[in-house]
Amino acid sequence: MTAPSRRGFLKLAGLALAPVPALAACQGGGVLNPGPLTSTAKLPEPFTLPLPKPTPARPVRTTAAGDHYAMTLKTAEARILPGYTTEIWGYDGTFPGPFLEARSGTPLIVTQTNRLPVPVATHLHGGITPPTEDGFPTDLLHPTGHATMAGHQGGHGMPAMHDPYAHIAEGRRDYRFPMRQRAATLWYHDHRMDFTGAQVWKGLAGMCVVRDAQEGALPLPDGDRELPLLICDRAFDADGRFIYPSTDPTLTRPGMDEAIAGGALGDVVLVNGVPWPYTEVAAARYRLRLINGSNARRYELRLDGPGEGGFVQIGGDGGLLPAPVRHQTLRVSPGERFDVVVDFGQYAVGSTVTLVNTAASGGPGQVMRFHVTRKASDDSAVPARLSDLPKLTPSGAHRRLVFSRNGSRWRINGRPFDPDTPLLRPRFGDTERWSILSVERHPFHLHGAFFQVLGRGAAGPGRYDVGWKDTVELSPGTEVHLAVRFDAYRGRYLAHCHNLEHEDMAMMATLQIT
Ligand code: C2O
Ligand code: CU
Ligand code: CU
Repeated sequence: MTAPSRRGFLKLAGLALAPVPALAACQGGGVLNPGPLTSTAKLPEPFTLPLPKPTPARPVRTTAAGDHYAMTLKTAEARILPGYTTEIWGYDGTFPGPFLEARSGTPLIVTQTNRLPVPVATHLHGGITPPTEDGFPTDLLHPTGHATMAGHQGGHGMPAMHDPYAHIAEGRRDYRFPMRQRAATLWYHDHRMDFTGAQVWKGLAGMCVVRDAQEGALPLPDGDRELPLLICDRAFDADGRFIYPSTDPTLTRPGMDEAIAGGALGDVVLVNGVPWPYTEVAAARYRLRLINGSNARRYELRLDGPGEGGFVQIGGDGGLLPAPVRHQTLRVSPGERFDVVVDFGQYAVGSTVTLVNTAASGGPGQVMRFHVTRKASDDSAVPARLSDLPKLTPSGAHRRLVFSRNGSRWRINGRPFDPDTPLLRPRFGDTERWSILSVERHPFHLHGAFFQVLGRGAAGPGRYDVGWKDTVELSPGTEVHLAVRFDAYRGRYLAHCHNLEHEDMAMMATLQIT
């Protein structure tokens, strides 16, 4: 099955665009928009808790085959809010999970043992990974003794099904990531079909940084002046537990409360697992690797301080940009990464600089705070040329995708996710043009390849569309054109909305790269 015919496309597009006027009428509630969840726990004052700086996990061993890591997925009691404990589901019982530092060209072999009460599927987001290692939503790692429940339970208009191609494991498996890719900021998270939103919300996410010699040779800020920041929102009940209204709290039967069918929003922003943290910085340049790990929240980040503020973007999802780009604000949709340099040297010692989210007010409008506490020498720089960006020119198939809604069901080209029937069969090695139309603001994400944004409607790429991307925010009512080339592996991959509630309600498409 390839893209619908032009005629079919127009028909779909017409249908899909019809609800646009209703969208405006629905602002602030209903199934179309992400739904806010309200904490009833006593929340800390923003900027009173220190930011944890992730330290790279140690490989259990390094062999000719690569760097080996081991993680046990388990429940744990975390101290997130002062005065409470919160049960999390974590890689190694931590949230975020272990921070993985990978070397380009050296495989990462991660042995996972599942001690959770549910199956999981781990996806390395931004990893160029063979299909069996990519965390396809039915490639489940079951807890020990539960491999029989391989069938999918049905729901959201999807029939109960057994996926004959699924790679099922029980108890323990290795994920082998070749890491034949350039330096970039990646992250990993659960991808279990129907339950990704709930399981990531419980804590199944971690960061991964890929390093290479080319980037290492640049004078960018590093060491203590490099901060990976995983940003996500959560809500807490009066006992300090995460609020997430799944239909079945045991996460056996799929489904969620209508209130979050448009996406789950929390009222507390966590950075590296801590609510609205602060950190002390020197008056010098810092590299911030920003990852939006939220289920559904999009941020417009701005630096609020005595100076003019602003960010110098040096990288995106797929590593360094060709040249730095200045932004006053950064729009970051779920799944996206922005690698930026901030020069705290522009602020006097004693200044306070707050990272705010202008897309929201109140709690979700605050992210974290920097205290500029000391002078320091700074020999870092942001070179005017950062890397080469070979420009992709599509010559293969032109595919069209429509992201739409049918009642409270999210659809791609009118269809719900079907793991064993590919919606798209891209040709290995071809550079294709993909045009994606949507009604709402969906973060489109592709597995198996990075892409380049060619333009939006008749216009060129937007200001956040530079460089190699794997996640891009769609423009309601305007087609987003991408150049896509699959040249790493053949097999089964995924394209989907990275609003995790939309994803769980079937806004995914199976790709077969042939
Ligand atoms: Cu970050 Cu398919 O996901
Ligand atoms: Cu991904
Ligand atoms: Cu969506």
